[in-house]
Amino acid sequence: MGEKHLIVSGLQLWEWRNAAFQAAIATDVPPGEVDWLLLEVAGLDRLALRLESFKNWSQVQLQLPLEELDHLWQRRLNDRLPVQYIAKVTPWRNFKIAVSSAVLIPRPETECLIDLAKASASNASGHWADLGTGSGAIAIGLADVLPKATIHAVDYSLAALAIAQANADNLGFTDRIKFYQGSWWEPLAFIKGQFSGMVSNPPYIPTSTLPTLQPEVVNHEPHLALDGGADGLDCIRHLVEISPSYLRSGGVWLIEMMAGQADAVRELLQNQGSYCKIQIHADLAGIERFAVAYKS
Ligand SMILES: C[S@@+](CC[C@H](N)C(=O)[O-])C[C@H]1O[C@@H](n2cnc3c(N)ncnc32)[C@H](O)[C@@H]1O
Repeated sequence: MGEKHLIVSGLQLWEWRNAAFQAAIATDVPPGEVDWLLLEVAGLDRLALRLESFKNWSQVQLQLPLEELDHLWQRRLNDRLPVQYIAKVTPWRNFKIAVSSAVLIPRPETECLIDLAKASASNASGHWADLGTGSGAIAIGLADVLPKATIHAVDYSLAALAIAQANADNLGFTDRIKFYQGSWWEPLAFIKGQFSGMVSNPPYIPTSTLPTLQPEVVNHEPHLALDGGADGLDCIRHLVEISPSYLRSGGVWLIEMMAGQADAVRELLQNQGSYCKIQIHADLAGIERFAVAYKS
């Protein structure tokens, strides 16, 4: 594709933006997504968008041809394709994380996991695990706030791991995060018993709830990232059961869960018998969203 296909006049883009706004309003898509998309794919800044000064520019360079942008925007409106999959990035904490349909789009509430990990860390160095790393967001967040730790990030999906590795490389964490393909702790058996902490945002949606989710989620995000089995707790149950043999004494166990799962997760941790100081934390919306425990 030649460069010239990526150059449009400011007026052309302004007209596209106006039409995209109108179509968004007509189809109940937040119109603010149009400008967010243009920040990412047209290199415009907020001021140029607000003042519409780009309308008079002779050229604007896009990252994809306008026809393709329009085609993808129609998919946003008609197929409910998430806008982050069009922009191929999402903001998360202080990072721009690349995403594709192979990975869950990292959510704002998951940002709190990193602050909880930092606050809970009795040993901020040593080995930390991010199990079910997806885009690599949690591993990158951990590497950022725990500068002395080595992060081991696991996912079952090879396609997700390719995105995660690219994110780690682009954000300067190549030497700090090691990636492994496999199921949960399985690829980390060689350092069993030595982990200072484990952080996970596992799939936790009950299978029967999946069809009731927004079409953006259920029709576009990977089901391997969402489906937590009959009661949503299959993966969490496994992580409660297996983690004590991987954590050192005092090691942190920290997960994200769904609204309404806190009591069940607390009970699972208590019944397992190897954990102490079990705590539930709310997210910024007040929903009990995170469970922390320590290996006794
Ligand atoms: C809810 S997503 C979380 C992704 C990312 N950590 C985040 O917070 O945005 C769950 C992730 O777990 C991965 N996963 C599902 N089953 C797995 C398994 N058995 N072993 C390892 N990873 C698994 C999925 O591929 C997906 O990337």
